[in-house]
Amino acid sequence: AESGDLAGLRFVVSAGPTYEDLDPVRYVGNRSSGKMGFAIAAAAARRGAEVALIAGPVHLATPAGVRRTDVRSAAQLRDAVFAALPADVYIGAAAVADYAPRAVADNKIKKSSDTLVLELVPTPDTLAEVAASPSRPRCVVGFAAETQDVEAHARGKLQKKRLDLIAANRVGVQGSGFESDDNALTVYSREAARTLGPAPKTRLADELLDLIAERLRA
Ligand code: PMT
Repeated sequence: AESGDLAGLRFVVSAGPTYEDLDPVRYVGNRSSGKMGFAIAAAAARRGAEVALIAGPVHLATPAGVRRTDVRSAAQLRDAVFAALPADVYIGAAAVADYAPRAVADNKIKKSSDTLVLELVPTPDTLAEVAASPSRPRCVVGFAAETQDVEAHARGKLQKKRLDLIAANRVGVQGSGFESDDNALTVYSREAARTLGPAPKTRLADELLDLIAERLRA
């Protein structure tokens, strides 16, 4: 990681979970802490990039030199990401909900029967939309959070969403993925695979940026 090597480049980074509201007091969410995406935003800014960070609900301080927009839901995340384009690079580190409740109840849902069925509908896929948009960044990088068959699922997302790179991590185990300070990534392009870590997310952020910088130079 050379200092200033990303000067003149614009990055948009998403981080953290999304919360999909059910009623005024409840939501469907996930375990993302935002650490991975915030580490990437911090490292890119330190290396001279102009960085817009779109953050779901997390308890993290805004990294130095980063322009931050807070969002709650997958729909809000999509709008904030598109408002931050154009950019040279989009990195989707957020754990975006794939489904959200069909409707948000105006009042607190009452306990009334033995079972309760939630109807969920698909959310917008920001990563796929960014990759397909007329203002597509030169480099679109996804993450893949998997509990099994990591490589097959990651390569599937790389192709289907038309990404340049996808960083796959194992979730549901200690020492990587959600919440932990450490992670291990396998970064796939169409041509190659590179394993990074296990290491602190702060170091993996710089190593991922090295791979991105390499592609931008090529
Ligand atoms: O936040 P931490 O606690 O540090 O944890 C880090 C992390 C595990 C959340 C992170 O490393 C990670 O893997 N982020 C992506 C999590 C995820 O939602 O993966 P996915 O395989 O479901 O989604 C694939 C890609 O599509 C992701 O880049 C995601 O941002 C994007 N996506 C998914 C659904 C959707 N509706 N819109 C999207 O943009």
